[in-house]
Amino acid sequence: MKLGILGSGKGSNCRAILEAIRDGKLKAEVAVVISDVFDAPILGIAREFAVPNAFLPPGHFRTRLEPAVEEQLVKMLRDADVDLVVLAGFMRVLKAPMLQAFPRRIINIHPSLLPQFPGLEAWKQALAAGATETGCTVHYVDDKIDHGDVIRQIKVPVLPNDTAETLHARIQAAEHELYPRAIAQLAAS
Ligand code: GRF
Repeated sequence: MKLGILGSGKGSNCRAILEAIRDGKLKAEVAVVISDVFDAPILGIAREFAVPNAFLPPGHFRTRLEPAVEEQLVKMLRDADVDLVVLAGFMRVLKAPMLQAFPRRIINIHPSLLPQFPGLEAWKQALAAGATETGCTVHYVDDKIDHGDVIRQIKVPVLPNDTAETLHARIQAAEHELYPRAIAQLAAS
């Protein structure tokens, strides 16, 4: 299974996927890593693992790609022969060009037990709601934000003395287990 990973930031989930492949825990290949942020650390991680990578200038919208840019993204992923598009901290909403080109072949990871706490900083939402348990979710991407069929989840406890930072770190550690497992599940199905 050939993966195309899209991310805007630090890339710790991308690293977890690349390490799982390197360690023989995930039978897949990362064909390309693409970022909408020129100096995103995720591109440095791709280079560290000798994976082809590219910066895609996103255009002038803030929360999505310009339509022509999104068409270019489709072409880049098709040229790399990608079977599954893996969003790993990609901070833009995908629209028709990507959703139509890769139906049920785009997945995302979100730091809560969806459908609870969609949107930004879900761990802060969990703390503010007084939840005793939260987690992380890998789900198919559809046209709504942090929505779409759930593929796999891991629960994470909220501890009495948790701050936003400690809870976020515990959720991220769970994400690094969850994402490679969810991709392996899809590769086997
Ligand atoms: C993850 O926490 C994920 O849940 C969210 O964005 C974050 C990306 O982190 N969608 P990283 O860039 O993989 O470290």
